[in-house]
Amino acid sequence: MNFENILVQKKERLALITIHRPKKLNALNKATISELNAVFEELEEDENIRVIIITGSGEKAFVAGADISEFAHFSIEEGSDLARAAQEILFDYIENLSTPVIAAINGFALGGGLELAMSCHFRVASETAKMGLPEVSLGVIPGYGGTQRLPQLVGKGKAMEMIMTAGMISAKEAKAVGLVNYVTTLEELLPFTEKIAHKITRNSSLAISAAIRAINASFEDGVNGYEVEIQEFGDCFNTEDFKEGTAAFLEKRKPSF
Ligand code: COA
Repeated sequence: MNFENILVQKKERLALITIHRPKKLNALNKATISELNAVFEELEEDENIRVIIITGSGEKAFVAGADISEFAHFSIEEGSDLARAAQEILFDYIENLSTPVIAAINGFALGGGLELAMSCHFRVASETAKMGLPEVSLGVIPGYGGTQRLPQLVGKGKAMEMIMTAGMISAKEAKAVGLVNYVTTLEELLPFTEKIAHKITRNSSLAISAAIRAINASFEDGVNGYEVEIQEFGDCFNTEDFKEGTAAFLEKRKPSF
């Protein structure tokens, strides 16, 4: 598939998506959102791909937000339509993908950029990264899930502060509050993230997708996560991966998933 705003590389069982609008600090316009949706759909169907890493082009930005020039003149209806459609096709979609997605944050992750990183399953940042939800400085609020996912990751008080001040936090602070799992040098960001990804690829992809569903269930209104866990746990017993994983353990060899 050919894309205008993103680059996609496949390396063995990994896929690397690079958002590539360097002149606009990789800001998410509508076209980029729909290209991302298309590539995530394609990679989800690709059985060879076990982990997806998403990063930004260049050394300055992961994604500097939603493209402000596109929505500056929107009406109420256009605003809510934009948020609803983007949440559905990209942000919620990534969060619920059965293939693990890691954000490698290589610079500014602001507004929609941080919301994109937060919808990934976890995050690694370079020490040069800066993160924030500056929407209230534009007279709007985060619309791509930021008011929901930021408190889940950093707690309500810190999320309130970050959203109200519209300020940016450093990678070091982001790690301290649990927003990112690791901080590396800019040069090490992708090699280090790939190392974690390779570790994931050695495990059962069926079990990993069941774990994603069970973990996500704990954040869904009206859903009993423990019940989902019991169901998913039980379903694992009927898979080839479970047979292989347990047989390999008992035969003192590495499993082949
Ligand atoms: N939407 C549209 N264009 C954006 C953008 C965004 N979110 N963020 C950056 N750009 C564009 C700038 O308009 C500029 O384009 P131009 O060269 O055609 O004027 C280009 O990217 C470079 O950005 P610039 O502001 O010149 O870089 P900087 O180093 O001075 O500042 C930031 C970097 C990230 C601090 C600044 O670009 C910024 O504050 N961006 C908006 C962040 C934001 O509010 N995001 C939330 C949106 S809801």
